[in-house]
Amino acid sequence: MTPAQRFARLVTDVVVRSPRLWGLFRGPLRGQFDRLAPRWDSIRSAGHLGALEAALGALRGPPPRRALDLGTGTGDAAFAIARRFPEAEVTGLDLSGSMVAEARRKTPDDLAPRVRFEAGDAARLPFPDASFELVALSNMIPFFDELARVTAPGGSILVSFSHGPETPIYVSPDRLRRELGRRGFTDFAEIDAGQGTALLARRPGAG
Ligand SMILES: C[S@@+](CC[C@H](N)C(=O)[O-])C[C@H]1O[C@@H](n2cnc3c(N)ncnc32)[C@H](O)[C@@H]1O
Repeated sequence: MTPAQRFARLVTDVVVRSPRLWGLFRGPLRGQFDRLAPRWDSIRSAGHLGALEAALGALRGPPPRRALDLGTGTGDAAFAIARRFPEAEVTGLDLSGSMVAEARRKTPDDLAPRVRFEAGDAARLPFPDASFELVALSNMIPFFDELARVTAPGGSILVSFSHGPETPIYVSPDRLRRELGRRGFTDFAEIDAGQGTALLARRPGAG
């Protein structure tokens, strides 16, 4: 791992255990991803969204009308969600303003009416409770309380990692199940696709 990847792994491990320490890392991590944004698309591996795509295909129930891609980076997972669910309005949110600028610049014309990007912090989301039927994370640190708050009853959470445990930002399925289960999520499903892994969970309720 590069020093930047090691730092991302360290932050993930610390913050998943102690979310209140996130404030120590927010600025440095944002700076790191701001610097990476112009070349982010060129340093990712081919097929990095394989597990996310497979998990989207495994979603059960009515298609989401409102979807959120947290830590969207340059937006590819948001575009994949929008293509999979042609009726969905998709929001991509990222801490890094430079990533958000890249995602906006790349947005295909046909998706522009229903995919939007904004800068923000997943630890304190600027959305009301129960705002989304699908909340997705690709290679992103989960902030479990906020995930649970903004997921609508009957909605789903999708957490994916492009290289499974080798991904710099990675949380084990056991930990994801424990944290999400504690917040009422059920119907867990684990999906492997190539090197990638994903976990789906559902918030009980209408839908
Ligand atoms: C490893 S990149 C993944 C980008 C994209 N999802 C992908 O798979 O290519 C992690 C992204 O999460 C963003 N991020 C990290 N912490 C965040 C937070 N608390 N809130 C919002 N975005 C965050 C970073 O700025 C970065 O763009």
